[in-house]
Amino acid sequence: MRPVGGEPGPKDHGDGQRDDKRGGAAESGDRRLYRKGLPFLRQFDTKVIVNICGGTVADYLEVVERLSGQEIDMLEANISCPNVEHGGIAFGQEPGMVEYITKEIKKKAAQPVSMKLTPNVTDITEIAKAAEAGGADALSLINTITGMRIDVKKRAFCVANKTGGLSGPAIKPVALRMVWQTCRAVSIPVIGMGGIQTAEDALEFIMAGAAAVAVGTANFRNPYAMPEIIGGLEKYMEENGIRDLKEIRGIVS
Ligand SMILES: Cc1cc2nc3c(=O)[nH]c(=O)nc-3n(C[C@H](O)[C@H](O)[C@H](O)COP(=O)(O)O)c2cc1C
Repeated sequence: MRPVGGEPGPKDHGDGQRDDKRGGAAESGDRRLYRKGLPFLRQFDTKVIVNICGGTVADYLEVVERLSGQEIDMLEANISCPNVEHGGIAFGQEPGMVEYITKEIKKKAAQPVSMKLTPNVTDITEIAKAAEAGGADALSLINTITGMRIDVKKRAFCVANKTGGLSGPAIKPVALRMVWQTCRAVSIPVIGMGGIQTAEDALEFIMAGAAAVAVGTANFRNPYAMPEIIGGLEKYMEENGIRDLKEIRGIVS
């Protein structure tokens, strides 16, 4: 909606793990989306999910209203953002706030809404149930895990923001555990993510109960990650006589 600067600091420390992330965009997000993003994505026979965030509930609702007339299949509300009106604690860290913001978004949204949960909580199922109670159509998890690094030569934080969002293969076991717990706690679909790099990783999330999976960091390291994962899933299905991934969804639950 408004241009944002993003977090300062390096993105990659060259050890194969990304340990901070820098959001932000120079042009207002929705204008860039209408001008470039949506026309590009609409060339393909695929579903378009738009991820939104904000610093206040009013921010979220303004974006939701602006997107209501657009050709978008689903909204994904990132509630890992700090709530500037409540001392900066993330929206997604308080069950009461999660239920409230979900309800408010659902009142205004023209598209189905998936609430994107932060793993930086004690009990993910409490948060997941709050989003379900607020009327979420689906849940997406996990977002990044708060991490930190210190440069021992400089005796200083590696990331200017001091802490940053950890993503990629290091977080996969945590993500998988949270997806499994959440799938057992709610009856809405779960989009699983966190460290997926291969078809086998994606299968683990599906067997834990995920209805769909998403891939983030792996795309930075391998631009062919997505087609390779899809191809690997097809191969696994063929080799194991599976016609629909639903046959193995939640099989370990
Ligand atoms: C550079 C970077 C930017 C991200 N930006 C967003 C964002 O804008 N909204 C969001 O909900 N999650 C964001 N994420 C989190 C990812 O969508 C994903 O939930 C997380 O990284 C775990 O998946 P992965 O290990 O496959 O990356 C970002 C992650 C990275 C590494």
